[in-house]
Amino acid sequence: MANQLCIVLDFGGQYNQLIARRVRECGVYCEIRNYQTPIDEIRQLDPAGIIFTGGPNSVYDESSPHISKEIFELGIPILGICYGCQLMAYTLGGKVSSCEKSEYGKIDVSHSESLLFSNVPENSTVWMSHTDFVSELPEGFKVTAKSQDCPCAAFECPDKKLYAVQFHPEVTHSQFGKEILHNFLYDVCGFTGDWVMDDFIDTTIAKLRDTIGTKKVILGLSGGVDSSVAAGLLSRAVGKQLTCVFVDHGLMRKDEGDYVEETFTSLFDTNFVRVNCKDKFLSKLKGVTDPETKRKIIGEEFINVFWDEVRKDTTGGFFAQGTIYPDRIESGKGNEAGKGSTAVIKTHHNTVIPEDMKKLFDGIIEPLGDLFKDEVRAVGEKLGIPHDLVWRQPFPGPGLGVRIIGEITEEKIEILQEADAVFRDEIRKSGVENELKQFFAVLPDVHTVGVMGDHRTYDHLIALRAITTDDFMTADWARIPFDVLAKVSNRLCNEVDHVNRVVYDITSKPPGTVEWE
Ligand code: XMP
Repeated sequence: MANQLCIVLDFGGQYNQLIARRVRECGVYCEIRNYQTPIDEIRQLDPAGIIFTGGPNSVYDESSPHISKEIFELGIPILGICYGCQLMAYTLGGKVSSCEKSEYGKIDVSHSESLLFSNVPENSTVWMSHTDFVSELPEGFKVTAKSQDCPCAAFECPDKKLYAVQFHPEVTHSQFGKEILHNFLYDVCGFTGDWVMDDFIDTTIAKLRDTIGTKKVILGLSGGVDSSVAAGLLSRAVGKQLTCVFVDHGLMRKDEGDYVEETFTSLFDTNFVRVNCKDKFLSKLKGVTDPETKRKIIGEEFINVFWDEVRKDTTGGFFAQGTIYPDRIESGKGNEAGKGSTAVIKTHHNTVIPEDMKKLFDGIIEPLGDLFKDEVRAVGEKLGIPHDLVWRQPFPGPGLGVRIIGEITEEKIEILQEADAVFRDEIRKSGVENELKQFFAVLPDVHTVGVMGDHRTYDHLIALRAITTDDFMTADWARIPFDVLAKVSNRLCNEVDHVNRVVYDITSKPPGTVEWE
């Protein structure tokens, strides 16, 4: 049985994926669709509820995303958020005006009786971000919430099951945002909460068995969260019919290749092939210093090594990859701002399959293609994949290659691996690990003068990078306690050969990036 569906209709706002994640957290399956999705297609999808997202435009801009009145006549409950709220009012004959005073940030609102606000205290704090507001309601609607500066913070027409909020319930700063979404989904739309990870695992395994039959499956395993969880699901489904190919380019963190191999061979009963090709990569990278060229070489070589291995004994079957839902939809941020072009399915996926191999495979399998990262992690935990692996921080594809500035050599890799391991060890012991989204050491390829005992040294500088962030698009440098940094610095200079100086990177993003190359 298919899950009940909620559609998040995308009008180009910055929190669209967050809305979808919150809906899923409420136990309701949802998909993000472009606002231009034809009404007939929406009717066929048969959603039990629709949510209009925010967006940066004004409804009076000619180029701003609009929607046909027909959508309100489908009888499907709709919740409009921010721009979506204004659009609902405007499309149904209401009026939108500029606020005398824009509201941005945490704002106090009070509400009256409404299904949307059941179990929400009369006064609460919500997150607002708007310069327009609904100044006149369409016929048949009533105001249900207001703030000091916004006379219409929420409105509704319960008979038609149309609801709207000027604020952002999906953002954690909205005190009872989750309750409001829950009320809409369960009390207005009548969802039953059939999106449960245990069910997902069972139905996905059954579907995989059905699709794969007795054929073989090849999966590229990077040791990252997504491909690891995909491997877990596939191995549960088809066991030894699955072969995981793990390309170890030698640019992983200290002992990481061994950790990945041990974890997978002990946890799952599949074929595991590890291709050790550090020397091959190093010889290709010899003398190369330009960051983009390094990335390109590592990327191309990775693909070559992987497909050469696969070619060795693939005669058919399926190719699997750990693509997740956000990989399949374009991020709204890079698109024409605010044109609601977010939910366009990407045509290029993780891996480009060479033409000769395409002919061989019966198809591509993406068992996590409908999941957000948090859901992938939940599935991973349920499959018994170790916590460390499931909660692993992002690690760039080119690995330490983008953390060694200048030419990459075996000696530099070793110094950086050792330094990074010390930093990680101290962060783990310090108790601040959970506050950091990513932390690592960088080898800037800078030599400085130092003194050790009676000797002058001229050795490597290590830079430490640690960040906090919500989405990696922007980031702040982490305020790690000085005594933790002092301990790391001390250990690095004492324990890691060829390190005589340590600096801490205090650049936020922007203007910096998380990685140094
Ligand atoms: P930047 O440096 O762009 O990094 O601020 C943002 C996030 O992306 C990760 N990153 C990469 N991940 N391949 C990847 O798979 C790459 O080439 C790559 N470059 C950066 C980075 O670690 C951070 O989490």
